[in-house]
Amino acid sequence: MSTEPFAAVEVIAAKRDKRELSDQQIDWFVGAYVRNVIAEEQMSAMAMAILLNGMNRREIVRWTKAYIDSGETMNWADLGRPTADKHSTGGVGDKITLPLAPLVAACGVSVPQLSGRGLGHTGGTLDKLESIPGWRASLTNAEMFAVLKETGAVICAASQTLAPADRRIYALRDVTGTVESIPLISASIMSKKIAEGTGALVLDVKVGSGAFMKTVEQARELASTMVTIGNDAGVTTRALLTAMDVPLGRTAGNALEVRESLDVLAGGGPADVIELTITLAREMLEASSAKGTKDPADALRDGSAMDVWRAMISAQGGDVDAALPVAKETHDVIAQSDGYLIKLDALSVGMASWRLGAGRARKEDVVQAGAGIQWHVGHGEAVAKGAKLFTLHTDEPTRFESALEVLNTGYAVGGEAEISERLPLIIERFV
Ligand code: URA
Repeated sequence: MSTEPFAAVEVIAAKRDKRELSDQQIDWFVGAYVRNVIAEEQMSAMAMAILLNGMNRREIVRWTKAYIDSGETMNWADLGRPTADKHSTGGVGDKITLPLAPLVAACGVSVPQLSGRGLGHTGGTLDKLESIPGWRASLTNAEMFAVLKETGAVICAASQTLAPADRRIYALRDVTGTVESIPLISASIMSKKIAEGTGALVLDVKVGSGAFMKTVEQARELASTMVTIGNDAGVTTRALLTAMDVPLGRTAGNALEVRESLDVLAGGGPADVIELTITLAREMLEASSAKGTKDPADALRDGSAMDVWRAMISAQGGDVDAALPVAKETHDVIAQSDGYLIKLDALSVGMASWRLGAGRARKEDVVQAGAGIQWHVGHGEAVAKGAKLFTLHTDEPTRFESALEVLNTGYAVGGEAEISERLPLIIERFV
């Protein structure tokens, strides 16, 4: 006789039949999966039932808690400083974490940031930082604490023991067509952020072709669900919906994006990257309720954010003065006529960068540090015949053809009146 309080098949059937799951059913289902009492195919069936029939807020909050309870949680109380973190749902050219973490630390709030690697057309923060010679993504908890205490910011890989239920369920979702579920995405992201122990959290929910969420309506639902989960768990959480119909900045690719982040930390860089970095930094400072903090625009101007960057990268073994890797080959795309860049599609740029070797198709793939794309002209800007529109970078020139194939569908030069509508950079705010 089984001593288990429920039968897995009955809990799956309840969700299949659009019934609410009780707290006890949820706790048991996730816990029993981690104990290997529930089989992979049963969790897959549950994920599909959740994707098709949804969950209410109570169920989502409990499902998230069950992920958190499956592993260890971190605590930064001994730091003696408030903590804040940011999570982006991912986009093309989204290097904001790189300047943002040292910037917020320079303003007086510590940033313990657990990040991931990229899969598909969106880049991963760890892949970008790993293009810095010597930099190490894997830290023990003690090392993470030491870097945070010494420099005010740390960006590293999440340990295997943080929300292990999510780790396993995410791998299943990846191969069962169940990634695109707002309850499951929310629980996945928020369980890791809550377990990480941050006091405040700002979510950057991307909207548009280069993002998970293609419409403002979907992004709104994801943002409000995650804000509810965070606040319910005692983490002051807010969210911004931001544009990802057009790629961010002027580069996509690992070392290329580090270089652009350094421009921002040096007080320059593209206007959209600066605006989003400063906006998110102000949100993080405000959400952390820290008193007497410096304004982020000042910390970029006076070099203090750059000082934290140098300390943070060095503390993780990175050589801040070493040259960043460059790709072996480049290819320029030249404008064939005068006019304006009337379209610049984030997904096409991201796919092209990925095909050049900047991203991976499978978790075990190796990324090229120097690969990626620079766009010399931004959306809506004037174009002169014969000028460079794009430079493609890769170590393997055979990749140019397939990258150009997708890039060519993603941009156009035309008259001023034909410039396509684009989303505002900051679309909406949720508190
Ligand atoms: N990122 C995550 O960590 N989980 C998801 O489900 C989607 C994006």
